[in-house]
Amino acid sequence: MPLQTSNNQAVSYPHEYWSSRLGFVLAATGSAVGLGNIWKFPYIAGENGGGAFVLLYLLCVAVIGIPVMMAETLIGRRGGQSPIHSYALLARQEGRSRGWQAAGWSAVVASLLILSFYSVIGGWAIAYVLYAARGIFDGVQADGVGKLFTDLLARPGELLTWHTVFMLLTILVVARGVRGGLERAVTLLMPLLFVLLLLLVAYAALSTEQFLPAAAFLFQPDVSKLSAAAVLAAMGQAFFSLSLGAGIIIAYGSYLPKDVSIARTATAICIADTAVALLAGLAIFPEVFASGLEASAGPGLIFQTLPIAFGRMPGGTLFGTLFFVLLVVAAWTSSISLLEPAVEWMLEHRGIGRQTSAWMVGALVWAVGIVSVLSFNLWSDVLLFGRSVFESLDYLASNIMLPLNGLLSAIFAGWIMAKVATEEELAMGTGIGYSQWRLAVRYIAPAGVATVLLSSSGAIALLFR
Ligand code: PFF
Repeated sequence: MPLQTSNNQAVSYPHEYWSSRLGFVLAATGSAVGLGNIWKFPYIAGENGGGAFVLLYLLCVAVIGIPVMMAETLIGRRGGQSPIHSYALLARQEGRSRGWQAAGWSAVVASLLILSFYSVIGGWAIAYVLYAARGIFDGVQADGVGKLFTDLLARPGELLTWHTVFMLLTILVVARGVRGGLERAVTLLMPLLFVLLLLLVAYAALSTEQFLPAAAFLFQPDVSKLSAAAVLAAMGQAFFSLSLGAGIIIAYGSYLPKDVSIARTATAICIADTAVALLAGLAIFPEVFASGLEASAGPGLIFQTLPIAFGRMPGGTLFGTLFFVLLVVAAWTSSISLLEPAVEWMLEHRGIGRQTSAWMVGALVWAVGIVSVLSFNLWSDVLLFGRSVFESLDYLASNIMLPLNGLLSAIFAGWIMAKVATEEELAMGTGIGYSQWRLAVRYIAPAGVATVLLSSSGAIALLFR
């Protein structure tokens, strides 16, 4: 079926669909589960005091994450195209301004900014596969592991090499189309990742005597630790981890067959993603406490703690290698999704082929990524508002752009799209009831996101001065 672009021109390119509901769930879960769960969630929870942050995080996932994921999936399926064109087409259908496509642009820009530094961290994970496989972790102590990590960051050439390899892996898959390779890969690898995480949790529980303190750290909220910054961090992390506000769920939704229940799939994806984040916390914090490291160590947390556990355990070389391989795979199934919205747009826009699109966008993102590579070494003194360039990019994209874009998608699905249209999209299957969902996207999610963004920007404090 030829698709319509926003200018009402028919485009003919092979529009793919997931083979089944499971295909979509696995691909979207593959996108959601990534470095955000295993690398970022534990260190951000650690930086923000643990339990209080985790509680806020769970609240954000339930109240904002699930309804916004449903909104983005239905915008994608209804629009049938990239985020930019889906917004434009649906807005026009409702007689609204084509300016809504700016929401799609903002999402695509966020996805590319995130991919630029995501690929650098994916590169760290590749480097660690080789460290683990060479047995470097064997019997290593905390200071040795710390040095390994800081030495890696100090070498821009090596970081650039691994960033390049990771970006190539991403481009190669996207260039070939998503369905064949990716769907098959996630089917095999996601369950394996889950099993491995469980094993690591069990190991941390049995070997460290720090499991209960770690669980208490994660699940006992200390309200004195609540701050506006922690609330913003929790919301930003929820959007990051669920792949919301970056056009990804819209793009993946555009490949979703009509007979799949959006409510059920969105809920399943959010639950799986949250479970993986919590399990990662339970695997990592016992090791952090047992080795006397700081929970607030920042981005290096898993790279400086897990190797100590691997160095101690029987079969640690194998387990360590496997773990970092799976970390790379989890990151890979996410990075592919970060490249896809822009590539889908290029395909529609001028009929540029998938291969060329993937290589062009990938090369651009790779170049932007060099900024992050350098921010860990040669440019480590360059600070913007007290943050390194890498931290600033992450803050801007994750904590500001993703929630803002998610807010727009909630408003679009709740206020701009006709009720009959959203009702029809959500009619299939059960899950959250339609009226609860509509309440959430019309009022609760927008109010929640707006309050957090305004209070963290200081705007609310100004109002009440
Ligand atoms: N959700 C993925 C993760 O948690 O690692 C990656 C990701 C996708 C992050 C989309 C941000 C985003 F907007």
